[in-house]
Amino acid sequence: MTFKTIIEPFRIKVVEPIRHTSRRERHTALRQAGYNLFMLKAEDVLIDLLTDSGTGAMSSEQWSAIMRGDESYAGARSFYRFEAAVKEITSFKHIIPTHQGRAAERILASVVLKPGDIVPNNTHFDTTRANIEQAGATALDLPIPEGRRPELPHPFKGNIDLEALVRTLDENPGRVPLAFITVTNNSGGGQPVSMANLRAASEICRARAVPLFLDCCRFAENSWFIKTREPGYAERTPLEIAQEMFRYADGATMSAKKDGMANIGGFLALNDDAMAQACRNQLILTEGFPTYGGLAGYDLEALAVGFHEALDEDYLHYRIRSVAYLGERLTAAGIPIVQPPGGHAIYLDARAMLPHIPQHQYPAWALSLVLYLEGGVRSVEIGSVMFGLQPDGSERPAAMELVRLAFPRRVYTQSHVDYLAEVLLYVNGLKERIVGMRIMEAPPVLRHFTARLEPLGGDLLA
Ligand SMILES: Cc1ncc(COP(=O)(O)O)c(C=O)c1O
Repeated sequence: MTFKTIIEPFRIKVVEPIRHTSRRERHTALRQAGYNLFMLKAEDVLIDLLTDSGTGAMSSEQWSAIMRGDESYAGARSFYRFEAAVKEITSFKHIIPTHQGRAAERILASVVLKPGDIVPNNTHFDTTRANIEQAGATALDLPIPEGRRPELPHPFKGNIDLEALVRTLDENPGRVPLAFITVTNNSGGGQPVSMANLRAASEICRARAVPLFLDCCRFAENSWFIKTREPGYAERTPLEIAQEMFRYADGATMSAKKDGMANIGGFLALNDDAMAQACRNQLILTEGFPTYGGLAGYDLEALAVGFHEALDEDYLHYRIRSVAYLGERLTAAGIPIVQPPGGHAIYLDARAMLPHIPQHQYPAWALSLVLYLEGGVRSVEIGSVMFGLQPDGSERPAAMELVRLAFPRRVYTQSHVDYLAEVLLYVNGLKERIVGMRIMEAPPVLRHFTARLEPLGGDLLA
């Protein structure tokens, strides 16, 4: 007999209490935080879905591996274990550890890009975009048209628009030093990229001698979607699928705080010898020696175990199913979300949910605040506060106004998800009363992290 219920495929050995607060306490906390969820104290949050980055629970195997950490400055055993794990999955020649994903992005951008260059991607993540723009280049998002339509289901909505990629490369000879594909496409809704799309993008880039890099933070989740959705892959293991994905690329940047299943870490991996040497030189300048790259030996050990745990079928089944389960509850209640549910997160479509709030009053930001006020749930806006400010200082509405509810790995159980559904349904009942926001103070780049805002009309609910 095969039973239907999908369970969390782990027992809990260590627990961390979470704290209920009153609505009044949360109201005060929001005011003190300048109506910015990044500025809250984490202990004032009941369920923290701000990010799936570095927030997961490590396994007993990872904690054991930590005790093996070799803290030698150069040539530590821990580096070679880390390198072997990444090489087995990616096959890239040079594996350069970094303290997290954006360090890999910064190093690569500083080595490869010059002002006036263009970098296509299905959708750039905010730090990738910022590092490219910092080098004076343009970060160009080329998702397939379905990728810009939140309500439209598509099995591989993270795909890059291949025609647009060809056009970009052919119309800008010599100005595209590399192309990216982000798996899964975080800013586009956590949506997967198909193997067929990766293969075709790779052929397009290789025919024009443009290196293709994967932003591979969620390579294991992408592998699971290929296994379960793409014809021909059902019998392949997630590891075999990941190995094929990486064969189509010439390099990768990774925030290992996601599918590395650890709390910190990342890498830059690539095949080109000269480029790797230049990157290592940059690494030494700000991250550290090439066999630790800003990480402790014990971090490298935890990652070497984590990359493989992320590819475990029972784990991936439970993870993708937990997110889909919340998606189904919300869809049944008529709450608009990016369809289908993504791998690591549910994305609420705030523009569809709050049509009375114009984009310049930041509907997704306002919705995320009310979720905290009513239920103690922390999410993140992926909309015009995050993406609206242009490099020249002007303001342009983001393509979508989303609230992302990102699931930390192996942290929450089904009862937490049931609670979330209850909070979201309650807030949906209040939606006409949610008011827009205005920005009072903001830094010139990545403003969402520290901006201070205020509700228009004094309170979050009219
Ligand atoms: C797709 C993607 N790329 C890059 C990054 C940056 O990684 P990090 O936060 O480790 O610097 C993230 C992090 O959230 C991401 O989701």
